[in-house]
Amino acid sequence: MPGRMRDARRERNDTEMKILVLNGPNLNLLGEREPGVYGSQSLDQICAHLSSAAEEMGFELVFAQSNHEGELIDILHAARLECSGVILNAGAYTHTSYAIRDAISAIKIPVVEVHLSNIHAREEFRHTSVIAPVCIGQISGFGADSYDLALTALAFRLGQNPPRLEDKH
Ligand code: DQA
Repeated sequence: MPGRMRDARRERNDTEMKILVLNGPNLNLLGEREPGVYGSQSLDQICAHLSSAAEEMGFELVFAQSNHEGELIDILHAARLECSGVILNAGAYTHTSYAIRDAISAIKIPVVEVHLSNIHAREEFRHTSVIAPVCIGQISGFGADSYDLALTALAFRLGQNPPRLEDKH
């Protein structure tokens, strides 16, 4: 780990080292759901792998999954007080949910949009992400590795701009 990142870490509190990994509808079925599109790993397997990668970077991950739009919004709201960033696979809500988009704007902490499949190479309705403009970036098409890439992106962002509590409220 570069010295700059290690030093920054020592000065941060617990909230600043926590990242929420939030998965939306149907992602609880990863592994059995269309494996040709989404791969054969279960969500638990993806999360376990991601946890150890995060630990090496000095982050603690908090995992949540819901099939319900309102619940995803409640979880995002709670994250603004407990986490410094979010890795979000909003599933099909990516393409439809202005409410989730507004929640992302409201919470201010950085959110990385993630997709296992390349949404731009699939059906037309998947080409639009209504949440993309309020996320710091989008990672799409690398299978389970999309989550690792999102974690790396977020780590860089947080290392460069450590969030301060007074900025969040
Ligand atoms: C997905 C892509 C979405 O279009 C789809 O509705 C999903 C999964 C992905 O990870 O590739 O549920 O977000």
